[in-house]
Amino acid sequence: MNRPLSKIIPRCKQNIHPWQIRLSHWINLLAMICMIMSGWGIYNAYPLFPFTFPQSTTLGGWLGGNIAWHLATMWLMAVNALFYLLWGLFSGHFKRSFFPFSSKSVWRDTVRAFTFTLPHKLGEYNAVQRLMYVSVLLLGALLVLSGLSIWKPVQLSGLVWLLGGFGSARYVHFFAMSGVMLFVVIHVLMVLLVPKTFIAMITGGKKAHIQESTDE
Ligand code: HEM
Repeated sequence: MNRPLSKIIPRCKQNIHPWQIRLSHWINLLAMICMIMSGWGIYNAYPLFPFTFPQSTTLGGWLGGNIAWHLATMWLMAVNALFYLLWGLFSGHFKRSFFPFSSKSVWRDTVRAFTFTLPHKLGEYNAVQRLMYVSVLLLGALLVLSGLSIWKPVQLSGLVWLLGGFGSARYVHFFAMSGVMLFVVIHVLMVLLVPKTFIAMITGGKKAHIQESTDE
């Protein structure tokens, strides 16, 4: 049925990034900074590779302090991640915002990004972002599983076995951390290319919804 234009009015202004995403995103950043810096301190005590991280980039001062920071912020990160994952799953956010994507769309958007022709619509992730966000969630899961197996190797001996033993779990943990660091570098570069996304991730941004009036 055709309705007069006067009946079609902007009804609501919805956030591009709901508060649940913004809150958990920025808490996650804080927790990740603490986890990574304290983790580098722990690594320095018994390095896997012939290098250590500068003392100024570590958190906790000494090994005991590094471990205390790592385990304390682990809880902040875990509660926050659980909140984000449950909200993302049950609100339909993951399904709506992260999927679908294909190798073809990722390639197309990568080429567009490198030629600075990638259009950006606030609130809509391109295929490269979709792939990156799903990958970092999987990397995060690997980071948590390998971290748990190093923390409680006796209680979680099955998990240690799955990861190829205690020594190998340490490598998995290190490479998962490196993967997350690589994600952050590319992620921040992409944000710098489209700075308005940063403002929206803080304020929420507003998108107008044109919705048919039901007031008769
Ligand atoms: C200085 C550091 C960071 C900045 C400035 C930043 C900024 C942003 C911005 C602006 C967006 C929205 C992008 C858009 O609308 O197109 C976003 C989304 C996202 N960021 Fe970050 N970010 C940072 C660090 C991180 C870290 C450390 C992680 C995880 C390891 C992360 C994971 C994500 C994820 C998963 C999303 C998608 C959120 C969703 O819609 O569920 N970010 N970030």
